[in-house]
This record gives sequence, structure tokens and C-alpha cells, in this order.
Amino acid sequence: MDRLPMDCEVQHLTLSEEIRQRIDQEIAKYPADQKQSAVIAALSIVQQRHGWVSPAAEKAVADYLGMPPIAVHEVVTFYNMFNTRPVGRYKLNVCTNLPCALSGGAAAAQYLSDKLGVAIGDTTPDGLFTLQESECLGACGDAPAMLVNDRRLCSFMRPERLDALIDELRAAAAKEESE
Ligand code: FES
Repeated sequence: MDRLPMDCEVQHLTLSEEIRQRIDQEIAKYPADQKQSAVIAALSIVQQRHGWVSPAAEKAVADYLGMPPIAVHEVVTFYNMFNTRPVGRYKLNVCTNLPCALSGGAAAAQYLSDKLGVAIGDTTPDGLFTLQESECLGACGDAPAMLVNDRRLCSFMRPERLDALIDELRAAAAKEESE
């Protein structure tokens, strides 16, 4: 069983009205006595708004759904789509499970680490990229596979495609900044 962080005081977080309304829509999909079933959706909503799921956010979701905080913490730490600390604008999850590792997955992760100048698990100083390893993405035939921001699956990520992806994301970020 994963432990709640004990080395820091859990700050209080009040879920905004907008977040509560969106969570209520998810709760409504389940029987009235099973609102805990909406926990993954609720955490996703909180993460979309805040960028990560802090201990305070875990507590707020637990209170809202009537769950023990440790149960919410276990969900957050089980799925690597949930960010347990702030991440960059683009979270790059490179699959290094065996089928991908045998087909360039580890090399792709190392290539990005060298290109971005960050260790796996870290974020670039400009806050643009967080590089992580991931478990199997269900796209082993497309190895090496990776996921951008938990939504966009990228296939056959050899160096030239990695270069193109990073260029594209940098350009998109620059465009957003200029608007
Ligand atoms: S092992 Fe990488 S997608 Fe399955």
C-alpha cells in the first residue's frame, strides 16, 4: 500500500464551483450510493484545471466523494496519467516496456534526454517539457511508442520523428505565447 506523504502538511484546497459541477456530472452516471466510482474522472478534471494532483487536491476529492484520502492517493499513484507534481507544458511519456525497449524505446528515451538536456523524470528549465518513461501504451506494433500529454499517441519514434515532434511542440508553444 502506498503511503500518504507525511513530510509535509497537506494544505487545504477548495474545489471551484466549475470543478464541482463537472464532477457532479460524472457522479450522476453512477447509482447514488456509488459516487466513489467517479474518482478517476474527478481527478482528471482537477488535473486539467491545476496541471497536477496535489495532496490537497487528493484530500478535496476524497472529501467530495466521501472516500478515505488513502484510497484516492492509491488511485493517483497507480495511474501514471496522474501527475503527482507539477509538470511541463508537454509531458512526454516514452514507453520503455520490453517490446518497445527491444525496438528502440530505451534509445528514444535517451535521445530525448540528451536532446532536451534533462534526466528522465525531470522538466526542462523553460517549463516546456517533462520527460518520463511509461508502461505499455498498447501500441507495441508501433514501437517505439510515446504519449504526449496523456492524449496523443506517437508511433515509430526514431530520432528524425522525435526531432520533428519537439520542433512542432516548440512552435506550438511559441504561437500560443504570441497570441
Ligand atoms: S511495449 Fe511499448 S507500447 Fe507496448
